[in-house]
Amino acid sequence: MKILVTGGAGYIGSHTVLSLLNNGYEVVVYDNLCNSSEVSLQRVQQLAGNTVEFVQGDIQDKSALTALFKQYPIDAVIHFAALKAVGESTQLPLAYYQNNVHGTLCLLEAMQVANVHQFIFSSSATVYGEENAVPYVETMTLGTPSSPYGASKVMVERVMADVALANAQFKGVSLRYFNPIGAHPSGQIGEDPKGIPNNLLPYVAQVAVGKRDKLNIFGGDYPTADGSCERDYLHVMDLADGHVAALDWLIKNEQFTGVEAFNLGTGTPVSVFAIVNAFEQATGKTIAYDVAPRRAGDLPAFWADANKAKIQLNWHASRTLQQMMEDTWNWQSNNPNGFDS
Ligand code: NAD
Ligand code: UFG
Repeated sequence: MKILVTGGAGYIGSHTVLSLLNNGYEVVVYDNLCNSSEVSLQRVQQLAGNTVEFVQGDIQDKSALTALFKQYPIDAVIHFAALKAVGESTQLPLAYYQNNVHGTLCLLEAMQVANVHQFIFSSSATVYGEENAVPYVETMTLGTPSSPYGASKVMVERVMADVALANAQFKGVSLRYFNPIGAHPSGQIGEDPKGIPNNLLPYVAQVAVGKRDKLNIFGGDYPTADGSCERDYLHVMDLADGHVAALDWLIKNEQFTGVEAFNLGTGTPVSVFAIVNAFEQATGKTIAYDVAPRRAGDLPAFWADANKAKIQLNWHASRTLQQMMEDTWNWQSNNPNGFDS
């Protein structure tokens, strides 16, 4: 089986490509490298002892996509390619809608022309918006995310639902990720943010390695047990395995058509203070921090109801918080400047 992975050179994509190769799938990666390095794929190939076809290109380039589907007999598509910085999306909404929504339309059109109907989409817990109570469960109505980034994910989920209504062959899966962290235990691939990290763990890891002075903990006065925000952090290798489980499920369920959404999370909320503690315990490093004002748009706490994926996909996030911290540090300390190290 040949799988097209858009955005496969990125953080979650590269770990998923490795899991796919290790599970016997052939992989073609399509990525414009706007937020990644081809070195990630070289390392994935070394780790897997197997090769990946790489095509550099943009998902908004329809002729390149058409040529891609002509060149490779693709069985299914896993679609990671997107811009993902929540704050930046409020400054550059048009770029986010162009890339994430228009880009996905181009991809779905090219798939339709090529008669490829199996599609796995990188969605996000952000689609539940502010309206829904926690824990989030897949039966909830989609909410209204506060950022254009989040809105782009809701829009694509809507597009998928409509495509499924019009095309009786369409088999779509929307994977709603919670907070992926960590890295492959080899320390060879991991998250390599450009500039100042937006996300918690890359920031903590850069403080530990001496690239940043101290962490700002955004808000210590939330209505949570210790006053900091709570999230559902899962190991990126569990998330990668979740994609393989979803793909296996799609392929096995020959009768299935339509769209199915799955939360990929642990089901357990963890606070920012608890993350700092866990990182210090696992690595022996001390993380200097200040408690800073709240960050606009942050919700106090959200986590997954993770039962559906467990029952239907036979998948659950099994790696511990300690493993997430150790693997983050192994990657960061071996690659202080990411793939440029
Ligand atoms: P990433 O930036 O590391 O990976 C995205 C990849 O897509 C990059 O390699 C980038 O170069 C590529 N890309 C972007 N626009 C493209 C385009 N127009 N054409 C071709 N390639 C393009 O991000 P990630 O953390 O690996 O996220 C992957 C997916 O998961 C994204 O869709 C993101 O929105 C979603 N997601 C991420 C998180 C998270 O916390 N990391 C949470 C929920 C959902
Ligand atoms: N945080 C800090 N300091 C930092 C960075 C983050 O205190 O320097 C806090 C945030 O305020 C938040 C928590 O750490 O309480 C987690 O923040 P992240 O930015 O790591 O993650 P978010 O929960 O804000 O968002 C992430 C992804 C989104 C996705 C969402 C749900 O970035 O793309 O999870 O999946 F939509």
